[in-house]
Amino acid sequence: MDFWRFVYISLACITLGHEAAANMNFDVHIDKLERVGDTGEYFTYNYSYEKISEMKFNMGAQVQQLKELDDSYTVKALVARADLADGSEFEVMMDLQKPLCEWMRTIYKTYFYEELAKVSNFPHYDTCPLPVANYVMENYVLDTEPYSEMMSEGRWKMEMMLMKGDSVCSGISVLNTVKPKE
Ligand SMILES: *[C@@H]1O[C@H](CO)[C@@H](O)[C@H](O)[C@H]1NC(C)=O
Repeated sequence: MDFWRFVYISLACITLGHEAAANMNFDVHIDKLERVGDTGEYFTYNYSYEKISEMKFNMGAQVQQLKELDDSYTVKALVARADLADGSEFEVMMDLQKPLCEWMRTIYKTYFYEELAKVSNFPHYDTCPLPVANYVMENYVLDTEPYSEMMSEGRWKMEMMLMKGDSVCSGISVLNTVKPKE
């Protein structure tokens, strides 16, 4: 659990929202969560979180963006799913890559901005290029309940990355397992 959980839960939401297994509850276990391609050249951050109830977390974060990011960068998001059985192959559910400004105006605007604007100084979706900046998010309450109802069982791989050409500048990769509650 950390700041980026917000990112992948949103990602999961995008993908799973429409094939929601209604009224079912699942246990979500994070098997692996790692930063990829990150040398600290683009971002540094610290975060804190506190569990306030079974499904709710109170989160804070400070993000320093160290380089201006223009439309020569792209944002890549990948979601893949495998069955629970050992050795099942991953099937790609979503694989999109958009130039940064377009990503800001579409995915970020629709799925991130409204929530973030209330609790942070994260940039407006029309901001592009993104200037060097310090961002602060405070007292963001993440309620995972609505998401858990949208999950479907399996092993999920989710990645979100900032790219320049073929190289990864900074990103996050999450592997988790979703099982029906026992
Ligand atoms: C991040 O670090 C700064 C400086 O040490 C501190 O003041 C701030 O409270 C920290 N923020 C979070 C969300 O942990």
